[in-house]
Amino acid sequence: MNKNVISRNSSRKRVLVTGGAGFIGSHLCEKLIAGGYDVLCVDNFYTGTKDNIHQLLAHPHFELMRHDITFPLYVEVDEIYNLACPASPVHYQFDPVQTTKTSVHGAINVLGLAKRTKAKILQASTSEVYGDPDVHPQPEAYTGKVNPIGLRACYDEGKRCAETLFFDYHRQHGLKIKVARIFNTYGPRMHPNDGRVVSNFIVQALLGRPLTIYGDGSQTRSFCFVDDLVDALVRLMNSPDELTGPVNLGNPGEFTILDLAEMVREMTGSTSPIVRHPLPADDPKQRCPDIALAKRVLNWAPTVPLERGLERTIAHFDELLNGKGSAAIRASEFEDAPQALAS
Ligand SMILES: NC(=O)c1ccc[n+]([C@@H]2O[C@H](COP(=O)([O-])OP(=O)(O)OC[C@H]3O[C@@H](n4cnc5c(N)ncnc54)[C@H](O)[C@@H]3O)[C@@H](O)[C@H]2O)c1
Repeated sequence: MNKNVISRNSSRKRVLVTGGAGFIGSHLCEKLIAGGYDVLCVDNFYTGTKDNIHQLLAHPHFELMRHDITFPLYVEVDEIYNLACPASPVHYQFDPVQTTKTSVHGAINVLGLAKRTKAKILQASTSEVYGDPDVHPQPEAYTGKVNPIGLRACYDEGKRCAETLFFDYHRQHGLKIKVARIFNTYGPRMHPNDGRVVSNFIVQALLGRPLTIYGDGSQTRSFCFVDDLVDALVRLMNSPDELTGPVNLGNPGEFTILDLAEMVREMTGSTSPIVRHPLPADDPKQRCPDIALAKRVLNWAPTVPLERGLERTIAHFDELLNGKGSAAIRASEFEDAPQALAS
């Protein structure tokens, strides 16, 4: 007899979110709870925190499990969003071997779980699989230009290998897979010390410190607000089984780093100067998503303009730095993390 059937006492879909206590994961958990799902958030709190999900902890359809996905996991679920992985260069380069293990062993473990439970599974991949591309913008068919022995390889190659595993499980075992290639995403609950350009500029501006630009500031980035991204992830999960991806998800609006610094200065009312540092190794000169496929197959495009998204992100960091809530932290806890311009 099927134990799965016996143990079920609810008709709600059971969704596992690995990395659910992280920046994107916490917003995804909120959206899924609001959508009537039963959510199991699995996280080892490597870069995520309980503060990110404290508002969900008492919810009857939310469950939190501390677990490292490099070890197998035995739970019963219908859908899996695999987001667990440190995402910013500062964090993924801190313990590069663990980063590769999380991407590769982690993928093997969650794919094994999906195979056993027949769950649909979505991988949070990244634009970094394109490396330092010589094609702009990058369509999904572009196979990338990645340095396999560089400092970013633990993340880039780890994510590439995870994509390989997803497609091999699909071809070999018939798993229902979805691969999202996520481009630079920002919003409330980004880690304040992770060296990403949006959080760096906002924290520096709010603390009255100089805004650090790497290179001459003419390199461009695109910025997708987290609500738009999470909407796309759920649409992708709910798309027909034939749609495996990979699908690029991001905001194609391009801004130079200098534009962004000036916007943040203006919106925070800061008088901080802008200072320049040398560009880090392997840093892409341009990163812009081609989202034609997502538009066509998911009927999705970002809706939040940079200025509105920045307002909400600035409000979050302001509360973190100056608020009295449990998540508030002291300015002295902010080191100026070496900024890497791509996630
Ligand atoms: N934020 C972006 O701009 C961006 C861009 C491209 C791809 N992504 C991908 O989206 C996902 C989420 O990114 P994020 O920005 O929310 O990062 P994040 O660091 O805030 O979230 C990652 C979460 O995974 C958890 N985690 C890490 N290793 C784990 C392990 N071995 N077992 C269990 N949990 C583990 C962390 O504690 C954290 O809560 C990542 O897979 C990342 O590669 C993010």
